[in-house]
Formats: sequence, C-alpha cells, structure tokens
Amino acid sequence: MQVSVIVLAAGQGTRMNSDLPKVLHRMAGAPLLHHALATAQALEPERLVVVTGHGGEAVVAAARDWSEAVETVVQDPQLGTAHAVAQAAPRLADATGEAIVLYGDTPLIREETLRTMLAARSRHAVVVLGFHARDPGRYGRLITEGDEVLAIREFKDASLEERAITLCNSGVICANVHLLLSLVAEVRNDNAAKEYYLTDVVELARRRGLSAGVVICDESETLGVNTRAQLAEAEAAFQARARTAALDNGVTLTAPDTVFFALDTWVGRDAVIGPNVIFGLGVTVESGAEIKGFCHLEGCHISRGASVGPFARLRPGAELAEDVHVGNFVEIKNAILEEGVKVGHLTYLGDAHVGEHTNIGAGTVTCNYDGVMKHRTTIGKRAFIGSDTMLVAPVKVGDGALTASGSVITEDVPPEAVAIGRARQVTKPGLATRMFEKLKAIKAAKAKGH
Ligand code: UD1
Ligand code: CA
Repeated sequence: MQVSVIVLAAGQGTRMNSDLPKVLHRMAGAPLLHHALATAQALEPERLVVVTGHGGEAVVAAARDWSEAVETVVQDPQLGTAHAVAQAAPRLADATGEAIVLYGDTPLIREETLRTMLAARSRHAVVVLGFHARDPGRYGRLITEGDEVLAIREFKDASLEERAITLCNSGVICANVHLLLSLVAEVRNDNAAKEYYLTDVVELARRRGLSAGVVICDESETLGVNTRAQLAEAEAAFQARARTAALDNGVTLTAPDTVFFALDTWVGRDAVIGPNVIFGLGVTVESGAEIKGFCHLEGCHISRGASVGPFARLRPGAELAEDVHVGNFVEIKNAILEEGVKVGHLTYLGDAHVGEHTNIGAGTVTCNYDGVMKHRTTIGKRAFIGSDTMLVAPVKVGDGALTASGSVITEDVPPEAVAIGRARQVTKPGLATRMFEKLKAIKAAKAKGH
C-alpha cells in the first residue's frame, strides 16, 4: 500500500520559552522532527512532506538533514492545521495512495499504530487516532457512535457536555490522499479561533456520505511537546520504551533505568551494557560486545567481542574492530582500532589508525592538533606504544615497533625499531637528603623571624 506522510511543523511553540524552533529541541539526541520522520520513514512512504513556517530555514535544514527524500513546503502565515495540510497539496499531486498527517512535535507515535490506522481504512474513508485522556484539558474531543466518529470538536468550540468527553483527538489522521486534499480545501474558518481546522474534515466527509472511524492508542503515544516539562516527560517515555525494546531483543542492561539511548542506537543480541551508559547519535554495538559503566558513546561502531570502559568516551568516527579492548579514562575520536588492539588506560587517540594487536600504554596521547590543523597518527600492527608516549602528528609508527615510555615521538618510527624520545636520567647520590636538610633549615629560620 502506498502512503504519503505530511508532517506539520509550522507552529511556533511559544511555551517552550526558547529561541530554537520547537521541533528542533532534542529528545534521545535527535530533534523532535526526526522522531516524527523516523516513524514516517518506517512506512516506506511514497512522499514525505514537512510543512514548515516558524523557524523556517533551520527546520528545513533539519528536514533535509534527515533525508534527501524529504520535501518541504512553507506555510506562511499559519492559519491552522487544515491550512497547513493544504500547503502540501502541490507536492502530492501525483501521489497515489493513502495520506497520513503527523505532527512534528508529537514524537512517540508508533509505527504499529499507524499500520492499524491504515488497516482501518478498509472500513472508513477517514480514520482518526484517538486516545482516552487522563486530563482531557484543551484537546479536541471525539464525538463518536461505536467506532464511528461523528465530529471532532475543538475545546474552544465545545459545549460543556462535549467538554465532558474524555476521548480526545491526537491529531493524526489518515485518508486517501486526494480525498484528504479535497476535504481540506473545503474547510472554512468560521470557529472560535478563526483557524482552518483539520478536524473539520470528519464532518465534511460525513456530509458526502463517507464514514469516519477512530483507532484508539495509548495516551503515552500522543504526548505532544509544548513545554520543557513535556519534553522531559517525552524523553522519559522514549527511554522507557527503548530500554524495554533492548531487553526484549536480548541485550543485558544491568541497570536499565540508568542507560540512555539515542533515536538510532543499535545494540546487538547478547551485548552487555553496564550502568550509566549514555548513547549519542550514530552508535552501533554488535552482538556480544560489552560496554561497562559510565561510558559516553557517539557516532561509533563497536564490533563483536570488544569491551569498552568503564569511564570511556568514544566520539564520532571511533571504529573498534573485533576483540578490541578500551579501558578506563580513554577517549577515542575519528580513529580505527583494528582487531585485538588494547588501549587500557588514560589515553587519547584522535585522527589515528592502529593496526591489529597493537598495545597502547597508559597515558598515550596522539597530539593531533597544532592549534590550526588536525594531523593523523598511523600505528602499525603488533606495535607497542610505551606508557606516556606523546605521538606528535603527523607521525607513523611501523609494524612491530616500540616506543619507550615517556617518549615524545616527533619522527616516524620504522618497523621493528625502538624509538626513545626522552631526556637521559641523571642520578645524584645523597642529594635528596642534603636538599631536605637545607629546606628544613630555611623553614625554621622563617618561623623564628615571625
Ligand atoms: C490540535 C487539534 C486537536 C488535537 C490536538 C492534539 C486541530 C484544529 N486541533 O490542536 O483536535 O486534540 O492538536 O495535540 O487540528 N501547525 C501547523 N500550522 C498551523 C497550525 C499548526 O503546522 O497553522 C502544526 C503545529 O506546529 C503542531 C500541530 O500542527 O505541530 C498542531 O497544532 P497546534 O496548534 O498545537 O494544535 P492544537 O491546538 O494543539
Ligand atoms: Ca498542540
């Protein structure tokens, strides 16, 4: 079944009290807009159109950033949800199947729910997504008869009797794309808000003798973000869902409530994630890898059998091959660590390539930045980098080479060579005792003086 998705994201979001457009506030590492787009993408849509307005350029850029396939249209001024959908019409002229309308600020709708709505289209021309609200507040109310929806009444326009209804409108709606567009074109703004309400399409469809139905989902899915408090609430809901999904997929989480996933985190079966692990965007952890406690991971790939942490930080471009070991207080950025590499302690590897089975000693630093440019460090296979080696990039260490502890390596080291780049030790017998006596005498003289 062909589906086009229209994501409404033109609203201002005044209650966020922010300079950032609402749909660009982040949840699970990604802009709210990307959550709606991810759900839409799961349906493999024929067309995917984002309606932008407030925050224009930035929102358009974020939409493009998600996928080249996303089209955008500007709604200016913003005259209501039906008016917003109408702006997408030119982009949908040649679409053939269904249309689903989502909101850019409602990030928790599940793919399964949308599929249930699509299935309900066999019984109804228009399908709306409703939910039973604990506190119906200012939501639009669904006036129903069985699973038929007779009308959606906006709070402002509702009678006291209608306001008592707790079955509310989520805003998600599904219909044949051309039916939806023709209904939207008929919507008028003769209501309390003087807005073009998308919700009016229900009554307009019924006037044409078509039926409208409701699919009901859990309220947690329809949580819209209007305030910072709701953003935090949505984050918590996302994390709860992601933790359950990880556990169900065969991932061990020692302390699930302390692990934070990103929108696109991928963790394989039998991976083990310790407490207080934070995933940024773009992380894949393969089956059987272990992430110990207190790690921060972003834009990295961790292969089977690798172990990371505790207290490690993997930044974008960190690529760990099988059986790599990264220990505590290690930071890795834009670096490939081939199979079996060991980086146990207190190390920074940036802009580097490390060959298989090389051992990186404690306190090693790739000095990759000269204040203006970044430079690469290349270390061969089965090399041994002594503790506290400073690798001043650009620099190469050959296969099987060794750097002495405390070396500052400024020149390439050929394969199998030993490089020692440190001052020679000078030992002065008895000097320590003489020095301390002298210092004590100075201290005693000072004490008398005062
Ligand atoms: C809307 C629904 C209401 C439902 C509620 C659920 C209408 C008329 N009302 O009300 O029944 O219970 O959502 O949250 O549809 N937007 C645009 N352009 C516009 C207006 C809005 O793109 O001109 C976007 C907003 O950015 C937002 C979404 O549409 O993402 C909903 O708009 P909003 O003003 O929040 O609608 P509500 O009044 O909450
Ligand atoms: Ca709203």
